[in-house]
Amino acid sequence: TTSKVNKVSHDYNNLILSLPRENGCETQYMYFFHGFWCPSTLIQSVNSFQNNFHAKDSDIVVASIPKSGTTWLKGLAYAIVNRQHFTSLENNHPLLLFNPHELVPQFEVNLYGDKDGPLPQIDVSNMTEPRLFGTHMPFPSLPKSVKESNCKIIYICRNPFDTFVSYWIFINKIRLRKSLTELTLEESFERYCKGICLFGPFWDNMLGYLKESIERPDRVLFLKYEDLKEDVNFHTKRIAEFVGIPFTQEEENNGVIENIIKLCSFESMKEIEGNQSGTISGDIEKEFYFRKGEIGDWANYLSSSMVEKLSKVMEEKLNGSSLSF
Ligand code: A3P
Repeated sequence: TTSKVNKVSHDYNNLILSLPRENGCETQYMYFFHGFWCPSTLIQSVNSFQNNFHAKDSDIVVASIPKSGTTWLKGLAYAIVNRQHFTSLENNHPLLLFNPHELVPQFEVNLYGDKDGPLPQIDVSNMTEPRLFGTHMPFPSLPKSVKESNCKIIYICRNPFDTFVSYWIFINKIRLRKSLTELTLEESFERYCKGICLFGPFWDNMLGYLKESIERPDRVLFLKYEDLKEDVNFHTKRIAEFVGIPFTQEEENNGVIENIIKLCSFESMKEIEGNQSGTISGDIEKEFYFRKGEIGDWANYLSSSMVEKLSKVMEEKLNGSSLSF
């Protein structure tokens, strides 16, 4: 088996060498593979996920491009779906002990990687239904099994200005831990405008799910971070309805919705002990997932020419879609 393993990694090394490559993520390089940019550590698992995963109609998938509010949405989805198990928010609610990324595993990171590799792997066969998963992959790149099943996909995106700033800061925090050089705001911004960012181009990632949500609204719920911020109560109810377990009048009267919102709020998530130390997916500090959680922080970072440039990119790429920020 050793020679088989070597053969596999040899084939992957050759594949990786043949792909377009760019600097600018938390590892040395990211590669353009199956229509999106990803680090070399995920190439084998993306392939394996595409070839081996069997979706169930009861599966629920939280999809996003990084830094769009994934952690928040994973928390809300987990709390909504599992609410019958945790009727009161005592100290033992999983969201008070764990980070949402630990409760909602990411297909391409936690399911199909190299079992001896650096990333922790989980066994899907042991998961209780409905199974909750996460992904950053664009819709067209998902396995046929996911695209063709009746599983529910909840997608979140965020205005590209804030997403970019959050991404740049996040990547640099990880790079610093790994003793890699920091990326300048300017170089990262230039790449972002060309679509070169993890799981990007951002417009393809957003538009793929948007299209699906318009064509099959029962399958894909398309959300925006800003909308959730504006009325999280409304969207929490919407998510519950979408996954087929709407809140009852009794639950509403008992404050179940408010409790879930509070449990998943930025302030409470940032403070819980489970998020104070430790890492996720091998090497990302949990605390890196909680920075400011605000809308409009980009104004503290981007120059007026940058704002003009990214506005033009958005106009060009999102033009003709119903998506605006
Ligand atoms: P900022 O860097 O702008 O603060 P993701 O979860 O997709 O990685 O996105 C991370 C962004 O969401 C970060 O944005 C982070 O602070 C914010 N965030 C994390 N948890 C949140 C929560 N519970 N509510 C609102 N925003 C949250």
